[in-house]
Amino acid sequence: MCGIVGAVSQRNIVPILIEGLKRLEYRGYDSCGVAVHQAGELRRSRSTSRVAELDTLVAADRVEGFTGIAHTRWATHGAPAVHNAHPHFSHGPGEDAYTARPGRIALVHNGIIENHDELRAELRAKGYVFTSQTDTEVIAHLIDQLYDGDLFDAVKRATLQLKGAYAIAVFCRDEPHRVVGAREGSPLVLGVGTMEGATENFLASDAMALAGVTDQIIYLEEGDVVDLQLGKYWIESAHGAEVRGRYARVERPVRTVQAHTGAAELGPYRHYMQKEIFEQPRAVGDTLSGVESITPELFGDGAYAVFKDIEQVLILACGTSYYAGSTAKYWLESIAKIPTSVEIASEYRYRDSVPHPKTLVVTISQSGETADTIAALKHARALGMPHTLTICNVATSAMVRECKLAYITHAGVEIGVASTKAFTTQLAGLFLLTLALAQVRGHLTDEQEAAHVKAMRHLPVALQAVLALEPQVIAWAEEFARKENALFLGRGLHYPIALEGALKLKEISYIHAEAYPAGELKHGPLALVTAAMPVVTVAPNDTLLEKLKSNLQEVRARGGELFVFADADTHIESEPGIHVIRMPEHYGPLSPILHVVPLQLLAYHTACARGTDVDKPRNLAKSVTVE
Ligand code: M6R
Repeated sequence: MCGIVGAVSQRNIVPILIEGLKRLEYRGYDSCGVAVHQAGELRRSRSTSRVAELDTLVAADRVEGFTGIAHTRWATHGAPAVHNAHPHFSHGPGEDAYTARPGRIALVHNGIIENHDELRAELRAKGYVFTSQTDTEVIAHLIDQLYDGDLFDAVKRATLQLKGAYAIAVFCRDEPHRVVGAREGSPLVLGVGTMEGATENFLASDAMALAGVTDQIIYLEEGDVVDLQLGKYWIESAHGAEVRGRYARVERPVRTVQAHTGAAELGPYRHYMQKEIFEQPRAVGDTLSGVESITPELFGDGAYAVFKDIEQVLILACGTSYYAGSTAKYWLESIAKIPTSVEIASEYRYRDSVPHPKTLVVTISQSGETADTIAALKHARALGMPHTLTICNVATSAMVRECKLAYITHAGVEIGVASTKAFTTQLAGLFLLTLALAQVRGHLTDEQEAAHVKAMRHLPVALQAVLALEPQVIAWAEEFARKENALFLGRGLHYPIALEGALKLKEISYIHAEAYPAGELKHGPLALVTAAMPVVTVAPNDTLLEKLKSNLQEVRARGGELFVFADADTHIESEPGIHVIRMPEHYGPLSPILHVVPLQLLAYHTACARGTDVDKPRNLAKSVTVE
């Protein structure tokens, strides 16, 4: 999703801005742009192509400068087009927006301004000219209108009028060595220059954008406005106690962050998604490494007291992370015997619910920056549920900073938009949480603990055996590539796995796919089953196997073609209309972690056969930082 980079320096910062955008590219975007202060004017280049094309453009246009901002845009308001791409310039009364001479404010923005219509009308009435359909352009004009020789002051006054979520970076033609940033609801970091004798400072929506430039990072907090100049910075907060106007100066700690460069090598793989599927044995192994025995303290200091106090669990997440939570509900209720509800974050925050103070609120997120999940977490806290825990893949993310307890998965940077290794490592973390809660609640004997830990240790080997099924899955994928619809079935804790399989297929191959608990078929979806409908089924050898087999007969009786991932001793055999891939042997409760892998491979190879952009599927972004 959208990305921001900004810099004030005494060297040409365009290469730093472009490199920063490249590091944020994997998140998904549809246009990009850069603006600098050059020869007393604002200069910019924008493109609806890739950042590499922007790089060529800035070189051709000789765009260079010591102060500047850059952006990757994922369209919300207004189509992906050059005139909607950021940076936006102000066009004040009397300035001709369409001539070569631009206005004096340049601005980039992540987030959504909810009162943009109202502000646009007011600014139009004052003579401001709009050249885009974006909500962002109103901020540039608003700052211009409030500007009285001090950009920091103008930004502070402007942000008081904004409703919605934003992270912005702004500079002004009349103040050549200054960039101002502000955040409310969207992440923004300040990078402190580290070059010898450095006077430079940076802004970015993610520390990763600044890898190789500085590792000295300040995570700005909600309501912060930051003034970046040569050799100094100053932060004020709208939520500060020592109020000056409505802002007060605040100190924020500088952290040393080893940001990943994001420049992972593809190695022998065709796409990052394939690489990440094959990294799962390593990723799950790393996530569980060092776990010799189960203890609540794996989730942070004070976890024992929290786990002892709580009476229920509420899981909040989106997309694939939501399906990880949905799987964990089965574990938490059957093993730890704790009532658990799982909510789609974007729904939870807007519905009336009944809060219980003795709830453990668990957020699950790969990125740790998903706007809906962060907002749902804050909503739960505001309702009086203070016990918060996150299962997250990014230790420096907002989610980890917002939650009291955390378990960091060690999937490594996930580049493919379709989540794979993040999902299986989330499941590994959630299984550990289940065992820790079971232990504290007296539902885990030493023998059970030892058996579970042994099975978790075996997971990397078991995953490797599942990955060896790839050639068989490729044969199926060639057939799937010609379909336009697919049904996925599962039962019990494999129903969320069927949901995840369907999400993977639709996300990257654009085949319409739906998942159902197999017992639900006869209540409606069976009407869709014909010889043209492939029905993918996850068939572990569990207590629901015989029920599942009956459901499969219902499909066969209607001519539906079955594609079954079956455990060895299920006695489901290939025959006309039934294709079976035999799963390697595995340990019961951890079966979802293994059964999802062939579904990932099926989606991946089907998408390859259809020739889609696997790592960057249309319309989607990696980090969903807007509501
Ligand atoms: O970063 P998060 O885990 O919070 O992201 C949540 C969803 O946006 C994400 O899982 C999405 O559904 C995946 N792209 C699906 O593959």
